[in-house]
This record gives sequence, structure tokens and C-alpha cells, in this order.
Amino acid sequence: MVATQSQNSQILDNYKLMHHRVVLITGASRGIGAATAKLLGQHGAAVGVNYYGSEEAAQQVVEEISSDGGRALAVKADVRDPQQVDAMVQQVSEAFGAIDTLVINANAGFPMAPFVDYRWEDFEAKLVGELKGAFFPSKAVVPSMIEQKRGCIIAVSSGLSRYPGEGFSAHSTAKSGLDAFIKSLALELGPHGIRANVVAPGLTLTDATARLPQEHKEASAQMVPLKRNGLPEDVAGAILLLASQEARFISGAYLPVSGGVQML
Ligand SMILES: NC(=O)c1ccc[n+]([C@@H]2O[C@H](COP(=O)([O-])OP(=O)(O)OC[C@H]3O[C@@H](n4cnc5c(N)ncnc54)[C@H](OP(=O)(O)O)[C@@H]3O)[C@@H](O)[C@H]2O)c1
Repeated sequence: MVATQSQNSQILDNYKLMHHRVVLITGASRGIGAATAKLLGQHGAAVGVNYYGSEEAAQQVVEEISSDGGRALAVKADVRDPQQVDAMVQQVSEAFGAIDTLVINANAGFPMAPFVDYRWEDFEAKLVGELKGAFFPSKAVVPSMIEQKRGCIIAVSSGLSRYPGEGFSAHSTAKSGLDAFIKSLALELGPHGIRANVVAPGLTLTDATARLPQEHKEASAQMVPLKRNGLPEDVAGAILLLASQEARFISGAYLPVSGGVQML
């Protein structure tokens, strides 16, 4: 018997790594978050594309996923605001069902400056912004993950959380706090079938690094065993690996995505 076209596409869907999954990605209008939304969407996930200021860019990400046959919704929220985060989670859940995968990615900006010039106000804003952006979305999705008895949380940290860089004291401190937070979730939520992991990109070419001098980027690429800087799609690939069922026994891990700069 010959399979119909719709039977064939159903068979293909079953091979997609994120089939039947509902994902929320914070800061998905641009950069690493946008690349991750598109990749997970291609792999069958319904995707909540969170944005803060860049509505048009977020809608563009949604359109790309939809035109590929996927499902996505742009949702505005400042991840530092618990009410906005709760409303966003409700919107995504109403559209697609309970969220089973959370990607904590939104970029908490910070000035790059030597420690001696750093003002406490800037240091504090980075620390608090980073941790609020992890705490509130996690708080909002974990209860339904516990109900589902499964869930996956992936945080986008940085290689700088383990290896400091000059001018990055606030970023390093905030990201190492994020790493510790994720390990705590892996420990406490594991018994509920929830995994929590970290990806740690090296220098990745996005808007966040666009203003770095070209010589800096070239020097950085030369230090990479794979001889180039990272692309948002490289980090998205690592997130897909950790989010998929194939990573079902991986929790509490720290995965560098740095072309070999950081070896554990
Ligand atoms: N690029 C690198 O070299 C690199 C290296 C290591 C780690 N990382 C980490 O990777 C993550 C993504 O960075 P990126 O380079 O892709 O950044 P990016 O291109 O600058 O994009 C930042 C994203 O975060 C969103 N965002 C910022 N503040 C937000 C808030 N309060 N609430 C909700 N969304 C917010 C932005 O949304 P709107 O535009 O809509 O406001 C945007 O979608 C960050 O956690 C960063 O620390 C980056």
C-alpha cells in the first residue's frame, strides 16, 4: 500500500527532534535567541518568541518559522518583571499548550570597563538583571513542568563565567551566578523529570558584539582551534542537542560552544 502525502509528512514529523514540544525562548527577537527559535521551530517545536523592544524583528522570526510550516508566537515581556513574565507564559500556554522547554537567553546588557572604574549601580544592574531573567521565567514555567512530570531548562551563560576577561567583571560574576542557579534547579527539579543545563558560548557574532573592534574579533578568532568566531546558529545547535529527547539523561551540564577555546 502506498502512503498518502499527509501520512508521509506525519512520518517525517515524528522524526523531528522537537515534535510536540512547546518552547519559550527569552530574548528571541535577535541574535542567539532568534537563531534558536528558528532551529527549534524547524524541528517541530511550537515556539514562544519573547521580545522586549524589537517587535518587528520578533514578528520576522515568527514569519520565518511559519513560512517553514512551523508554529510560533511573538510575546512581549521584560524578563525582569514577574507580572509581564507570568502574562507571557499564559499567552504561550493558551496558544500552544503547557511549556515543556524554557531557554533563558535574554541579554542583560552591561558596560565593559575595568574593575577600578566600575560603578556599583552598573554592577548591581547586571547581576540583578541576569538573575531576574532566569528566576522569573523559571518560576513561571516550573509548576506546569512538575505537573507534566517533564521539562527542560537551558540557560545561555558564557565562557566568561568560568574564565574571566578584562573589563567583564560584572558579566563573569552574573553568569557564574546563573550557572549555580541552573545546577540548583538540576538538583531540586530532577526528581520531577526536569533537566536543567547551561550552554556557554565564546565570542559570538551578534548585535551584542557588533561594536567590538575588528582587530579584537580577528585576534579572538585566531585563538579558536576551529579558527573562527561563533555564529548564533552554532549556539542554537547546542541548545537543540540539549533540548532534544536524545539528551534525556543529561542534566546539570555546562557545555562550552567555543570552537575548542574552552576545554573541560
Ligand atoms: N554574543 C556573544 O558573544 C555572547 C557570548 C556569550 C554569551 N552570550 C549570551 O547569549 C545571550 C544572547 O546574547 P546575544 O549576543 O544573542 O544578544 P543580542 O543579539 O544583543 O540579543 C539580545 C536579545 O535579548 C533581548 N532582551 C534584552 N533585554 C531584555 C529584557 N529585559 N527582556 C526580554 N528580552 C530582552 C533582546 O530583545 P529586544 O531586542 O526585543 O529588546 C534581544 O532579543 C545572552 O545571555 C548573552 O549574555 C553572548
